[in-house]
Amino acid sequence: MARFDQAFKDEVRARNDIVEVISAYVKLERRGNRYVGLCPFHSEKTPSFHVVPDGQFYYCFGCKASGDVFTFLMEREHLTFYEALVQLAQRARIPLPQEERTPEEERAYRERRDMYAALDLAARFYHHQLFTPAGKPGLDYLLGRGLTEETIRRFRLGWAPGRGALFRALRDRFPPQILQKAGLIVPRRDGPGFMDVFFERVMFPIADLSGRVIGFGGRILGGEGAKYKNTAETPLFVKRHVLFGLDQAKEAMRARNQAILVEGYMDVLMPHQAGIQNVVAPLGTALTDEQVRIIRQQAQQVIVAFDMDTAGQLATLRGLQKLYDSGCDVRVLQLPDGKDPDEFIRTHGAPAFVERIEQALPLIEFRLSLALPATRRPTPEEMAKAVESVAQVLADVRNEVVREAYVDQVADRLAGDNPLAKPDLKLAIDRQMNRLLRRGFQHNLPDSRNNRRGPGAPASPGPTRPRPDQAPVTQAEGARRAERVLLYLLLEHPGLLRTVEAELGEEPFSDPHHRQIYRAGRALLAEADPLAGGGVIARLFDRLSDPEARQVLTEMAVTPMLTSDPEKEAADCIEKIRKHRDSRRLEDLENQIKAAAAASRRVDPAIWNEYMALVRKLKSTRS
Ligand code: UTP
Ligand code: MN
Repeated sequence: MARFDQAFKDEVRARNDIVEVISAYVKLERRGNRYVGLCPFHSEKTPSFHVVPDGQFYYCFGCKASGDVFTFLMEREHLTFYEALVQLAQRARIPLPQEERTPEEERAYRERRDMYAALDLAARFYHHQLFTPAGKPGLDYLLGRGLTEETIRRFRLGWAPGRGALFRALRDRFPPQILQKAGLIVPRRDGPGFMDVFFERVMFPIADLSGRVIGFGGRILGGEGAKYKNTAETPLFVKRHVLFGLDQAKEAMRARNQAILVEGYMDVLMPHQAGIQNVVAPLGTALTDEQVRIIRQQAQQVIVAFDMDTAGQLATLRGLQKLYDSGCDVRVLQLPDGKDPDEFIRTHGAPAFVERIEQALPLIEFRLSLALPATRRPTPEEMAKAVESVAQVLADVRNEVVREAYVDQVADRLAGDNPLAKPDLKLAIDRQMNRLLRRGFQHNLPDSRNNRRGPGAPASPGPTRPRPDQAPVTQAEGARRAERVLLYLLLEHPGLLRTVEAELGEEPFSDPHHRQIYRAGRALLAEADPLAGGGVIARLFDRLSDPEARQVLTEMAVTPMLTSDPEKEAADCIEKIRKHRDSRRLEDLENQIKAAAAASRRVDPAIWNEYMALVRKLKSTRS
């Protein structure tokens, strides 16, 4: 991709008013200093999509879609940044600075373009093979599994014939390096030359959001080898981002505001063929953060039709909890006799499947059903175990009111024949749950490294959450908010930078997103051209590659702070951040001291001194 310098991007942005650009897609109405309309990224009845001309960004309070004029076009039209930039430059009649493309970038750009072209051609080759005598086993297989020719064509299913067929077909059009890099061929192990990655397999092309083929899954029909083989990681095929069927499902996902998550290729195809099109599948692995983000962008409700009895249940639950934490209404659909959606629809039909979707259990209820004892008259041991497991599930519920309601319900169920036990059970659950919450425990699924929002946090402080440190959640949360405010003040009043650095040092922020924004902001201010159009925030957008950091930035921008005395405000924040730092350091020292004591080692005097000094300091500042 060509590199356009910051000045060019800024000019393109400045000459494409975001309100005008978005107005081509969304009916906007002025409301105070912003424009409001129905969100183009999710379905809604009351407008929650805001466009802010002063900052040149948009934000949806419903689905949290956010960004600047570039991201709008990228997401709405499924363009790369480069394509959006070119389109907007043309819209504003700004000539493209061709010379900006270094030879290196030109090469990289062409390489990607050729890889896409090769993958597309490969998909067409495999698809064509399916309808030749060579591909008959594949076609028979697919028809035998109940797929219609229309579905086969829509998903461009194919057949990879014997070794070398693809390479022979493509080698005159693309250099082998391109084919290899795209994951289509590999060097022969037994000599010079190349061989196809897939042979004698039914082929499922895997596309990105905009429908470009980026890789394949291939199913073996018999004999040796893994049942499914997927393209290895390539620059285009990044597994943790991939959801099979996404390009075909996205419109339905948005329209219904619901996604159905299944395990396999056939489980996507069968419902789709039956008219249930909002179905996608991760490729045989637990959900990644990236997949969670993609799903969340398309839909709020997620129905999970995984086989939950498999060995990977814990990993699966963790993935689902991530979805829940991202704000999705996650529901677990259970099919009888360990059937997958493909088998279920073939046996019972699509209407029965839809019925099951409607009966899917909210994730928390599903987890509770696993935590409750299986027997009607649990032994005291089973009861104690259940109280503990239940408390762990409920500590993952963000909303306090909902949590309390669940405690009541669960205590009811546990008490069973003995209603007198209920108050005690409630107390026991409450106690365990609150202990977990106080610890600021992140997911209470074992071994999870994911963070969870603290209990006191408001419903939408964005994706940044307190780190899983041991400090009380309330203080960590307070410090995080102080960081947020301070960062905002810094962007609005760059003059504060000196004070902040003097007081908090080179790394004033501990939240990773705040750090990214701070770093990008510093760089921007250092080279700032005071005459460039657009606010600081808008210009910060394309310096942040991490979408979560972008999201934080947008949230900061849409909840502007009015302050008459930014310096005093900043000083307060600095104080809070410092206190939090100190108490974390204190804990750290305490742990070192404890560890030394446990090992009967002498405590390093320097540690003692620092510890005592910190204790005194924290005491004197505690109000
Ligand atoms: P399953 O083994 O449940 O297969 O794998 P399936 O989807 O029901 O396949 P059919 O119905 O027998 O054709 C679920 C998914 O896990 C991935 C694939 O994405 C598959 O669809 N998988 C499975 C692999 O990547 N490799 C394998 O060897 C097996
Ligand atoms: Mn199956």
